[in-house]
Amino acid sequence: MEQQKWWKEAVVYQVYWRSFNDTTGNGTGDLQGVVEKLDYIKSLGVDVIWLNPFFESPDKDNGYDISNYYSVMDKARDMATFEHLLKEVHKLDMKLIMDLVVNHTSDQHPWFKESRSSIDNPKRDWYIWKDPKEDGSAPNNWRSYFTPSTWEYDDKTQQYYFHSFAIEQPDLNWENPEVREEIYKMMRFWLDKGIDGFRMDVINLLAKVEGYPDVEEPETINYLGNNPGIHNYLKEMYKQVLQHYDVFTVGEIPFVTPEDGLLYVGEDRQELNTLFHFEVCDDMVQMDLPRFKEIQKRWYEGMFGRGTNSQFLNNHDHTRLVTRFGNDNEYRKESAKLLGTLIHTLPGIPYVFQGEEIGMTGVDFATIEDYQDIAMLNKYNEEIEKGRAGTEVLEELKLLSRDNSRTPMQWDDRENAGFTTGNPWIKMNPNYSDINVKQALDDKNSIFYYYQNMISLRKKYKVFTYGDYQPILEDHPAIYCYFREYEGEKLLVVANMSDEENVFDYLVDTSGAKLLLHNYAVENDLSYSKLNPHEVRVYLWT
Ligand code: NOJ
Repeated sequence: MEQQKWWKEAVVYQVYWRSFNDTTGNGTGDLQGVVEKLDYIKSLGVDVIWLNPFFESPDKDNGYDISNYYSVMDKARDMATFEHLLKEVHKLDMKLIMDLVVNHTSDQHPWFKESRSSIDNPKRDWYIWKDPKEDGSAPNNWRSYFTPSTWEYDDKTQQYYFHSFAIEQPDLNWENPEVREEIYKMMRFWLDKGIDGFRMDVINLLAKVEGYPDVEEPETINYLGNNPGIHNYLKEMYKQVLQHYDVFTVGEIPFVTPEDGLLYVGEDRQELNTLFHFEVCDDMVQMDLPRFKEIQKRWYEGMFGRGTNSQFLNNHDHTRLVTRFGNDNEYRKESAKLLGTLIHTLPGIPYVFQGEEIGMTGVDFATIEDYQDIAMLNKYNEEIEKGRAGTEVLEELKLLSRDNSRTPMQWDDRENAGFTTGNPWIKMNPNYSDINVKQALDDKNSIFYYYQNMISLRKKYKVFTYGDYQPILEDHPAIYCYFREYEGEKLLVVANMSDEENVFDYLVDTSGAKLLLHNYAVENDLSYSKLNPHEVRVYLWT
């Protein structure tokens, strides 16, 4: 039988602090701003807060380009504020995990400055340097996440360095044991301060393909991850660091199959606790229900009882779920509740991204100047250089721009939604006068209270966490439906994922069941009922 663990039963709330709450009026959120909203976070019933990177950084990629792992960036405030935040989180009986970004640093990190200073510098080998090909071109044809090549030429030493992301984010050379030791030391520093774990940024990218050969389809970029050697690094990290603390770890693992996923999070593997895979958020532009069902089933079959999956439909890199996978217009509230229900009732640890609990939506800014996301801006410039029209490219990139999720938290209907008294670092979503926390707290049918109730039910019934998964109506194009069972508890989830009504033409006797969650005023009966657009119901038998 599956082992029960605190982190398997946890609900995680992600705080993108720079867009959460600004207490200084400089237009950027800060860690004191998080302290001031802890009661709000706690009231949702979540257990763990995941805080995006807050370390010293030139901020080319919003903190994912770290120039000093041991200090807090000025925008976030300072170490004393971080320590205070950690203490307050613990006082409220919650836990705090931080982002561990160790595939790359900033090009302004002193290690990289030294590394690039000369070929024989002792830190040269801390990063990945290669000679040009004979014709002077880059060592291979690989594409990076944010640029057409993974290689950047350095005039001074006439070699190229490797970067999986922006030019300003050189990859560390994990083959070098000194690098690994230094990272483990840094991890211990934060764990000894009392943090409760890590969300590990692109952790499966640490090991590179040996020999760096050209590839046939550079645009897939999947050769960047899951390479031989990765498990040795993670096992070493576990042994040297993680096993000595009671912590929760979630790895960001792009391009992973459930079979490979188990190698990272298998209960017997001594690597990570759980992972984010991206079969939904990277590979599906909008809701494709047959595919979504197939993904859920395959991951369940691959992992159940042997490793723990995660469930999320948005974060700081992925457009808000209601805009991308639901209907952020006519059925915003209904579809937000429905999608939230899936996240919290499918097998895996659920994540709530700030603002999701009030149904915040994506944005549609008029010009490229309104956008800040380096991934989007680089892609835009790349396309413009090919001679394409700006308006066309902008339209194409809008839906998946990471800025959709990065606009500030909407607290109330005051100017700038109560987020800041200054100029927000990124434009506000103009709909904040209608969609905000204050409004949600005043409305007993709000998405917020639906989430709060759902999370409290999750705590009450173990079937949410440990139940199996039995889908029915698998070929239905609009209705998603599954049972889950665990030690005498049984759940039935029925969701009409469409803007149209649909009939639930299946025989199930719900007379002995409790209608646990629903987003329309409906009766208990289910068989052959008409389901409203974006209607969801959860029944429970005990
Ligand atoms: C994944 C992070 O979530 C994203 O925001 C960042 O740009 C890349 N990793 C690079 O660190």
